[in-house]
Amino acid sequence: MIPKDTIQSIIDAARIDEVVGDFVQLRKRGVNMLGLCPFHNEKTPSFTVSPGKGIYKCFGCGKAGNSVNFIMEHEKYSYPEALRYLANKYGIVIEEQEPSPEERQLDSDRESLFSLNSFAQKFYTQTLLETEEGKSIGLSYFMERGFREDIIAKFQLGFSPTAWDAFTKEALAKGFSEKYLNDSGLTISKDGKQYDRFRERVMFPIHNLTGKVIGFGGRILTSDKTKPKYVNSPESEIYNKSKSLYGIWLAKNAIVARDNCYLVEGYTDVISLHQSGIENVVASSGTSLTTEQIKLISKFTRNITILYDGDPAGIKASFRGIDMILEQGMNVRVVLFPDGEDPDSYARKHRSADVEAFIATQADDFINFKTRLLLQETNNDPIRKAALIHEIIESISLIPDAIVRPLYIRECSQIMDIAESTLMNELNKTLRKKKLKGAADEPEVAELPDARLAEPPKEQVLDIADCSAQEQDVIRVLLQYGDKILKFQHPGNEPEEIVIVEVGVAEYICNDLRANQITFDSPVFQSIFDAYALGVDQGQLPEENVFLMNADPDVANTSINIITQRYELSPGWEEIKIYVPTEADKLEETISGSVLSLMARKLTAMIHTNQLAMKDLPTDSEAWANHLSRDIHLKKARNEINKRLGRILNN
Ligand code: CTP
Ligand code: MN
Repeated sequence: MIPKDTIQSIIDAARIDEVVGDFVQLRKRGVNMLGLCPFHNEKTPSFTVSPGKGIYKCFGCGKAGNSVNFIMEHEKYSYPEALRYLANKYGIVIEEQEPSPEERQLDSDRESLFSLNSFAQKFYTQTLLETEEGKSIGLSYFMERGFREDIIAKFQLGFSPTAWDAFTKEALAKGFSEKYLNDSGLTISKDGKQYDRFRERVMFPIHNLTGKVIGFGGRILTSDKTKPKYVNSPESEIYNKSKSLYGIWLAKNAIVARDNCYLVEGYTDVISLHQSGIENVVASSGTSLTTEQIKLISKFTRNITILYDGDPAGIKASFRGIDMILEQGMNVRVVLFPDGEDPDSYARKHRSADVEAFIATQADDFINFKTRLLLQETNNDPIRKAALIHEIIESISLIPDAIVRPLYIRECSQIMDIAESTLMNELNKTLRKKKLKGAADEPEVAELPDARLAEPPKEQVLDIADCSAQEQDVIRVLLQYGDKILKFQHPGNEPEEIVIVEVGVAEYICNDLRANQITFDSPVFQSIFDAYALGVDQGQLPEENVFLMNADPDVANTSINIITQRYELSPGWEEIKIYVPTEADKLEETISGSVLSLMARKLTAMIHTNQLAMKDLPTDSEAWANHLSRDIHLKKARNEINKRLGRILNN
């Protein structure tokens, strides 16, 4: 654990131009610095660094952040890893916080499990390469399959002896405790006896992202149908199946370099593809694909290509996978191998270049893939065709980005020869149904009335309780104009007299919202707001950098994104002089508009909640009457606010 004030001093010490400068060549450009973006391919520099604000922003790909974000993104480090990197660069000593007894126990449990698994891997590898049994049974099996020696070494493959407790005995003799032998699942204890989980199997160690062994899969060598083909380690403190991907530690660099990740089913598929020189490949191995696994891949690329068997089970698994990947906002392509072949067998039968070419030519985007497959089954039966359309629309509806969805609708319309507007209608129906089912965490949906189909899609939030857009706008205004002064005209005491009242933007916003008891649903927005409110009370507003370089990464990311958004349309930060004044000129309107919109939205949400509560009450009850009077009260307030909002908008 890194103490909070150390985190802050690391962030404060890490100068963005120096941190980025280690990886990107920067030229001075006005008050900022400019270079070629390291996060996407570009020939003209659009990667801008602001030493003053301590942040970077690429106008090409939109990536933005502070020093810590840069190191996380560039080096694929976790938050603490990035902090340690920067501490090291700036010679800051991290005095680790005393971990609690529980943390210490957990830490030492994890360490013990890592070291036991590492010992086990070496034991199995040694058994494979150096014992008679290992060589004659295990190694000869791998050779028969065509696995090269360098590949066997690279994947640290092994063999578990036939004897029923060979490994457990050896581990105990080496001082590993029974507790961890059981916790790791390497040993099974039953009726006071201990025996090895893995016996007479070829061993595939499973590694985490950094290459530490966290578990094993053991493949049987006989065709004994009464025994499972694979035995796998159970989950443990260090092995979480739904968060692990077989091969990720060897694949991550290739995934980044090729900006694509191949997803296969089994250990042997990963290994064979590596042997063919294809390294950007991971396997979900056994368990069906999980959202966490997809998120792990998304650290390295937005593109996944599923490589599955062409049998019904493989196709079904690919359909599920497609939907889950789309849901994460990632791009998915699919390659089905000819029936009876999987990536492993295909790679063994064909030359490396042919495997690569096969994948490249067969990879289909999901619409094409699903349509082609399902169209074969429909036989032009209109009812079946309709069902197929529903299937595809269902998948499109999972895509969170409302700009992307219509693009797929267009493609689908062309392939199926159905009017785009018909498909769009279907999509909207599906989206609406989903929304009605009421999951609060559903992504926003786009509602497109038919008449507007020709226009670019507009986001319309259906979820009445969702105030996030309005909350964000108030926070944006605070960050952007918090220290500016507003001038309001008021009628004075004398007739015709106009008094000009001056008030600070932050003061106006904070006091207005507090007086109306408006709070933010988002804890991050709330904490930024609280910092301003405190500043107002103490007569000292927080500086922008407090947020941009906050020790809480959520606060830093949110404020950086909000602050850099306003430059989104301009090619460089210099242009700020042209873009901002229009809004700043009408500062009073901007601020009141933002605050009133939030209030109106909050009131709408309250009205909605109140009406929901009313629905199930008998109309002659006192509670119902109370809700009704609250309804009237709230609506009156909202009308009032809308009137004021209308005056501003029509100004
Ligand atoms: N699997 C498992 N338990 C089983 C069968 C399969 O855990 N009883 C997992 C393994 O991770 C395996 C993957 O599912 O790698 C795919 O299964 P399969 O295609 O049957 O195995 P392969 O690895 O392809 O093995 P082989 O090529 O030797 O048949
Ligand atoms: Mn196989």
